[in-house]
Amino acid sequence: ERTYFLKQYEDWFTVETPELKKITDHFVKELDKGLSKEGGNIPMNVTWITAFPNGCEEGRVLTIDMGGTNLRVCDVYLPAGRRDFEQTQRKYKLPEEIKTGSGEQLWDWIADCLKSFMEDKRIEPPEGEKFSLAFTFSFPVYQSDIKCGVLQRWTKNFNVTGVEGHDVVPQLEVALGKKHLPVEIVAVINDTTGTLLASHYRDPHVKVGSIFSTGCNAAYMEDCKNIPKLQEQGLAEDATVIINTEYGAFDNDRKVLPLTPFDRRIDQQSVQPGTQIYEKMVAGLYIGEMLRLVLVTLCEEGKLLQGQDITRLRRENAVDATFLSIAELDISEGLQDMRVEFEENFSLSPNMHDLKICRYLISLISKRAARLYACGIAAICKKNNALKCHVGVDGAVFNKYSGFKSRASQALREIFDWPAEELDLIALNPSEDGSGVGAALAAALATGCESKGR
Ligand code: BG6
Ligand code: GLC
Repeated sequence: ERTYFLKQYEDWFTVETPELKKITDHFVKELDKGLSKEGGNIPMNVTWITAFPNGCEEGRVLTIDMGGTNLRVCDVYLPAGRRDFEQTQRKYKLPEEIKTGSGEQLWDWIADCLKSFMEDKRIEPPEGEKFSLAFTFSFPVYQSDIKCGVLQRWTKNFNVTGVEGHDVVPQLEVALGKKHLPVEIVAVINDTTGTLLASHYRDPHVKVGSIFSTGCNAAYMEDCKNIPKLQEQGLAEDATVIINTEYGAFDNDRKVLPLTPFDRRIDQQSVQPGTQIYEKMVAGLYIGEMLRLVLVTLCEEGKLLQGQDITRLRRENAVDATFLSIAELDISEGLQDMRVEFEENFSLSPNMHDLKICRYLISLISKRAARLYACGIAAICKKNNALKCHVGVDGAVFNKYSGFKSRASQALREIFDWPAEELDLIALNPSEDGSGVGAALAAALATGCESKGR
């Protein structure tokens, strides 16, 4: 049989229900450990945002959001009492050399983007005043208050020198100062915190905010009494605070995740081996590379694309998540869209057999990603006894990869044994473009910017 070898890949990439449950249970323990004094793999970073927006926030805020692929600059206006917002946004693709250059280059580039945005949109504060600027910095940071953020470590294959271990705020301020930009940084937040604030603003049933894009992570509101590492701070008994879990670091000590030889290679060839083990199995930055490694292996074994020159396919990170998404959406009889992708990206001419195998492998890889993604969400909900809630999810891969949401929802059903007739008790709701409004709400909360008389 020409496809007997696929059995091995099925075994590697299939995660059955009992395994999902086991991973979720271990995940719950690891989340708790991150809140304890001893710490653990998962940072569980305290954000100092102690309440959800109440709808009375108002004002104008500029925001910058540095994800893993794009920088988004927004001008957001919050009208009081309407739980609504107006925003203009522009996206700048982060150049590869910026991701691995010096801190100064990175901050100067960000300041340049903000400057060109403000000039193009003619954004000027009244004479002598400054705009509040909220900075969504989507990397793990330690915060002693909302206005600072010490980078714990780069993730998502960034490797910018001179930033780890330092507060990013003064560094960015220097670059903003050089360009004489009339802004003042009032809040540093994570993209998951922004997503949580923005989606809760619209729908108070939202208990978790999550990003599934280049990276993968989630944030939620925790009772301070459950955070032993905060105990010395003298917080009120009933205080709450948003925790940015940074759960991409789950299972860095490799106790439960079903790693395949391909996962090990992705980790070894990454900029930070041994870190973000969970994220490397699920997130958009890695699923394309996962497919590429599998395809190259099969070609070398003579099982795929026989006799073809795979030089272009050999280039590291040559396949991105969009390739997988296009392939899964292709329902044409001759798998024409996939064929074009192979041709244009890799100068390859697959036959129908190659295409079908490739498509099957893609479904295995992305199904595994969606099912493992569900474990993190399930763990937060289980830990907090939020077994019926909404989860706001943002990020290009979640919003654009058809089938991802239904696969993750199916995994949640299995983890919680929901009866067939029951609707999704934990609903994964797409939350698009929350970055600007989420950061603006954080700025409003940080500066006490609420409308008077309410
Ligand atoms: C966007 C969110 O959809 O995805 C942002 O609004 C987030 O808050 C971003 O930072 C992450 O995307 P990427 O691919 O740039 O990491
Ligand atoms: C990575 C980052 C995290 C971010 C996520 C999604 O996991 O460490 O801060 O939220 O990617 O962008």
